[in-house]
Amino acid sequence: MVMSITIRSAGVDDAKAIAAVHIASLQASYRPLIPGRIAHSVLDPPEVEPRIPGWRRCLERPRVSTTLVACDNLTVVGFCTLRSAPGSHAAGTIGEVWALFVRPSHWRRGIGRLLCERTLADARARGFTGVNLWELESNERARRFFCSLGFRADGESRLFLERAGVALRELRYRRTMPTAETAPSRDPASGRGPFGRRSEPRATNVGLDCPEDPLNGSD
Ligand SMILES: CC(C)(COP(=O)(O)OP(=O)(O)OC[C@H]1O[C@@H](n2cnc3c(N)ncnc32)[C@H](O)[C@@H]1OP(=O)(O)O)[C@@H](O)C(=O)NCCC(=O)NCCS
Repeated sequence: MVMSITIRSAGVDDAKAIAAVHIASLQASYRPLIPGRIAHSVLDPPEVEPRIPGWRRCLERPRVSTTLVACDNLTVVGFCTLRSAPGSHAAGTIGEVWALFVRPSHWRRGIGRLLCERTLADARARGFTGVNLWELESNERARRFFCSLGFRADGESRLFLERAGVALRELRYRRTMPTAETAPSRDPASGRGPFGRRSEPRATNVGLDCPEDPLNGSD
C-alpha cells in the first residue's frame, strides 16, 4: 500500500536522507549487476557522509534539477531527480529522469511508480514534451519498471563503464508527454496515474554525471 506515503519537493535539508537512500538502493540493486572486479568503480565509496556535499549542491540549484522525495511518515524512503536532458537537440524541451531510487526495504510497494508519475506530471507542467532516461542494459528490473510506466527504448545506447575487460552499456528510454486532452485522470487513492568517468564514461542514472556529482561527494 502507498497510502501512508507522501511525495514532496526536496530541499537542501534532505541531502543526508537522500544520500542514505541513494547508497542503500545503489548497493542493493547494482552489486548483482556489475562484475565484482569492477564493482568498486560504481559502488565506492559505500559511506553516506562523503556524498552529502554533492547532494547539497544539487538541491541548492533547483534551476538545474529538481528532486521529489517519498516519505513514509517523516522518513525519506525514495527520491526522483529531473533535469533538462543534456545535449538534447531541442534543448530545454526534453527532460531527463536522472535518478530514481527507493530504499530496498520499501521496494514493490508502488513508491517508485508514484515518484515517477509525479515527476512526469512536473515535467509536463514545465513544458517538456518528452522525458528520457538512461538505464543499464543489465538492470532488467528497472527496465521493466520503466516500460510499465510508458517508457520505450528508442534505440540509442552508450558505454556506461569500460574497465578490466568489461564493458557495460546503457540504453536510452523515452516517454512522450501525453497532452492534457489525452491524459487519463489520476486516481489519488491508489496513486496510479496517467503514465501507464573519468577514464570511463560516467553513468547518468547512478548519479555519476550529475552537474553536482553527488556520488563523488567531495567538495
Ligand atoms: C526501480 C525502482 C525505483 C522501482 O521502485 P519500486 O518502489 O520498487 O517500484 P513499484 O513498487 O512502484 O513497482 C515495482 C514492482 O512492484 C510491483 N508492485 C507495486 N506495488 C505492489 C504491491 N503493493 N505489492 C506487490 N507488488 C507491487 C509493481 O507492479 C512492479 O512490478 P514489476 O517489477 O513486475 O514491474 C526500485 O526497484 C529501485 O530503487 N531500484 C534500484 C535503483 C534503480 O535501478 N533505479 C532505476 C534507475 S535510476
